[in-house]
Amino acid sequence: MRRPDHVEPASGRLGVLLPGLGAVATTTIAGVLLARQGHGLPIGSLTQMGTVRLGKRTEKRSVKIRELVPIAKLEELEFGGWDIFPDDAFDAAVHASVLEKRHIELVHEELRSIRPMTGVFYPGYVRRLSGTHTKIATNKADMVAQVREDIRAFRRNRRCDRLVAVWCGSTEVYIEPTAVHASVDRFERGLQDDDPTISNAQIYAWACIKERVPFANGAPNLCVDFPAAWELAREHRVPIAGKDFKTGQTLLKTILAPGFKARMLGLRGWYSTNILGNRDGEVLDDPSSFRTKEVSKLGVLEHILQPDLYQQLYAGLVHKVRIDYYPPRGDAKEGWDNIDLFGWLGYPMQIKVNFLCRDSILAAPLVLDLALLLDLAARAGFHGMQEWLSFFFKSPMAAPAVHPEHDLFIQLMKLKNTLRWMMGEEVISHLGTEYYD
Ligand SMILES: NC(=O)c1ccc[n+]([C@@H]2O[C@H](COP(=O)([O-])OP(=O)(O)OC[C@H]3O[C@@H](n4cnc5c(N)ncnc54)[C@H](O)[C@@H]3O)[C@@H](O)[C@H]2O)c1
Repeated sequence: MRRPDHVEPASGRLGVLLPGLGAVATTTIAGVLLARQGHGLPIGSLTQMGTVRLGKRTEKRSVKIRELVPIAKLEELEFGGWDIFPDDAFDAAVHASVLEKRHIELVHEELRSIRPMTGVFYPGYVRRLSGTHTKIATNKADMVAQVREDIRAFRRNRRCDRLVAVWCGSTEVYIEPTAVHASVDRFERGLQDDDPTISNAQIYAWACIKERVPFANGAPNLCVDFPAAWELAREHRVPIAGKDFKTGQTLLKTILAPGFKARMLGLRGWYSTNILGNRDGEVLDDPSSFRTKEVSKLGVLEHILQPDLYQQLYAGLVHKVRIDYYPPRGDAKEGWDNIDLFGWLGYPMQIKVNFLCRDSILAAPLVLDLALLLDLAARAGFHGMQEWLSFFFKSPMAAPAVHPEHDLFIQLMKLKNTLRWMMGEEVISHLGTEYYD
């Protein structure tokens, strides 16, 4: 990547398009509206709360990330989206019951005005839902054309200067990339032929990239993570990122596992189970959607622990992940982890983690950060896969020649160094000067 000579300022309105106006999307939108009216803080958002150190420690220069890089202000965001149900953002937020009524009521009018555009819905990809607010098209190429028209209309009607999209739709069934995903030409042909391995999410992503709208995938399903999408994104000079927001249990895993490895503690087993009762949980109750999530969650430990390098510590580690749909819990997910580890001379120990989390409360700041940072990336002239945004994902996209980086702390360092480098600041290596001055 070449260092940008110039980063365009974040002037004007930024449209944030969210395919899937469910729990995560409405919690994000309501949260931004509440924060900009002074009714709450955007806690968990790196772009809003995070700082970055510049220069040497002796210089004592730490600035807010949003002071270092030009990112859109919350006041300049304009939200829109698609869903396969007609509920506006207010009704969808009430239905999701993540935020309390007293919060949602404060931004009632703004939420009411956000009505989803009709969704692209071939039902085989999300079997637990039967959408009623959907597009009719002659084939998948026509679906892409209709989504492109929606994007243009939104840009025009809401007078947006720039757009960005984050997939917040349901997790689709597990699909492996096929020949259709190998190149732009083949994918275009596949759209004409209604290829069964082209899912709804891929149709939105394709339309966004063609409209030069940066796109992030917050779910684990195949969406922009295949050669044809990388090629299209490069050709159209559009940044893309994914996949699967890193929240809850996996967030904790990528905090704890690097710590065990740093101290050369061994691991025999890691058993994780969750209960959740929101619509996401209902969709994941279908084994084919769960399979997509399982693959996304399982990759994490293998990559962090590198059992091939540390055979005595991690070879043979048993890693299991379970998710149970349990309606009484709604969005208040509960996760349990049993970690079997060992120390000096192989003596065994155990750690039990019980995380009573709130799924969408953890995901909302990631949607905001991804929208703002992808928009920044576009203005800096970055395009194609944005590996420096791995920090936000459970299953980060990576170039075929390298393994994805899962360690949260390495991901954060990479993100901050990319911002420093983008703005012509010195990249921080943490090498002490006292040894060689
Ligand atoms: N909340 C988290 O912590 C978290 C973490 C990682 C990933 N995710 C993923 O984020 C996504 C959203 O999660 P959620 O809790 O908001 O789920 P949700 O079920 O509340 O919302 C998903 C929405 O997508 C809509 N939808 C489904 N197919 C669609 C289509 N083809 N076009 C338009 N809309 C469509 C559904 O109708 C629903 O309103 C899920 O895929 C979930 O797995 C969430």
